[in-house]
Amino acid sequence: MRLLLATLLLAQLVLCSAHVVPSITPVLNCDDEEAHQAAAEAVRYTNAHHHHGYKFALNQVEKIIPLPSHGGDEIYLFELDLLETVCPHVSSTPIDQCPVRAKLEQAVEADCDYKMRKHNNTYEVLQAKCKSELKSAEKLPWLCPKCPHVAPLNDTRVVHAVDVALQKFNSGNNTNFYSLHEIGRGRIQQGEGNTVLVEFIAAATNCTKDDAAAGLNECVKEGGPKASYAACSASVVKLPGVIDEDVVEKCTIYEAQPQKDAQAPLPGPVAPVPPHFIPSRFHHNLYFNNLSPHSSESNSAEHHLLAAHAQRAVKRSLTGQPVHANARRPPLCPGRKIHF
Ligand SMILES: *[C@@H]1O[C@H](CO)[C@@H](O)[C@H](O)[C@H]1NC(C)=O
Ligand SMILES: *[C@@H]1O[C@H](CO)[C@@H](O)[C@H](O)[C@H]1NC(C)=O
Ligand SMILES: *[C@@H]1O[C@H](CO)[C@@H](O)[C@H](O)[C@H]1NC(C)=O
Ligand SMILES: *[C@@H]1O[C@H](CO)[C@@H](O)[C@H](O)[C@H]1NC(C)=O
Repeated sequence: MRLLLATLLLAQLVLCSAHVVPSITPVLNCDDEEAHQAAAEAVRYTNAHHHHGYKFALNQVEKIIPLPSHGGDEIYLFELDLLETVCPHVSSTPIDQCPVRAKLEQAVEADCDYKMRKHNNTYEVLQAKCKSELKSAEKLPWLCPKCPHVAPLNDTRVVHAVDVALQKFNSGNNTNFYSLHEIGRGRIQQGEGNTVLVEFIAAATNCTKDDAAAGLNECVKEGGPKASYAACSASVVKLPGVIDEDVVEKCTIYEAQPQKDAQAPLPGPVAPVPPHFIPSRFHHNLYFNNLSPHSSESNSAEHHLLAAHAQRAVKRSLTGQPVHANARRPPLCPGRKIHF
């Protein structure tokens, strides 16, 4: 009985608000399950378009702005905070199993805006814009002087450590010869002798180790179904007075991604990085932008929020009655921080 009454009240409320404001997009709060489903799709889109460095994961749904609907589809702008994970882009680990990089390791944060369409109850990214930065780069030396600090990816000590670690990997018992694909990260800990901590990706070539040692053939990275990567983290320590460096490393081999991934519909192309863009020397930037600045629907998020508020004020003065708080309140945002 009580349930019935509540349902009736709810129905009336919906009808009332529908009367005051015809065809209003329902309010979507930042921590609603549906908002997180949309965010998961946005994160999938992001990682599908990011072909270097590490995968990114959701940290917070910051803002949701309903835009004018289009042909019965709901359109939203989503503002998300992402964090870099420790899973390299070549890894097959599902994103929800990829730990984010610890703050003390100098995390990388990304701010992204997505224009999304809800069609048949599924969200799809129409346009996106992202940029990333290394956090606490300045604060860490002060907070933790003895911690390793992120070094430029082309720092000679980092490059050398990767070289030594890759040689060690190639002297292991894998049959293929691997060549360097990319340096993911380098950190240096000053002290008695430097400790250099590196992360890198090596790609299997079409040479066996014997081929490579003979040096007769050109060794080319395998592609397609034969592609295979080794993602390694290594620490290379050179103590004073000791000739050899001490190399400790751990590598994970990733075979080519199964074809079902390749068949998944890949969202539209992303605009190329503009020539004036200066990539970070310390991390693999997440950078892309196809959020068109000229489209009437994709002006800044703030603009739309203001427009929505203005519309609300007009409606109120026209009817002479305050609009029901539940029907017109802005979304409850920002959502919680999932990590930090
Ligand atoms: C809507 O989605 C459902 C399942 O998500 C699917 O079965 C159905 O075919 C879709 N309808 C249209 C018109 O795409
Ligand atoms: C590293 O790259 C930066 C910018 O690309 C360049 O200015 C610098 O000279 C490079 N450093 C080394 C050691 O190669
Ligand atoms: C060689 O490979 C085998 C099987 O993959 C592994 O169990 C073994 O530990 C490897 N040996 C060395 C020295 O890496
Ligand atoms: C690897 O591929 C390159 C280019 O296709 C070829 O020139 C080279 O001989 C191949 N190496 C071996 C060991 O087959």
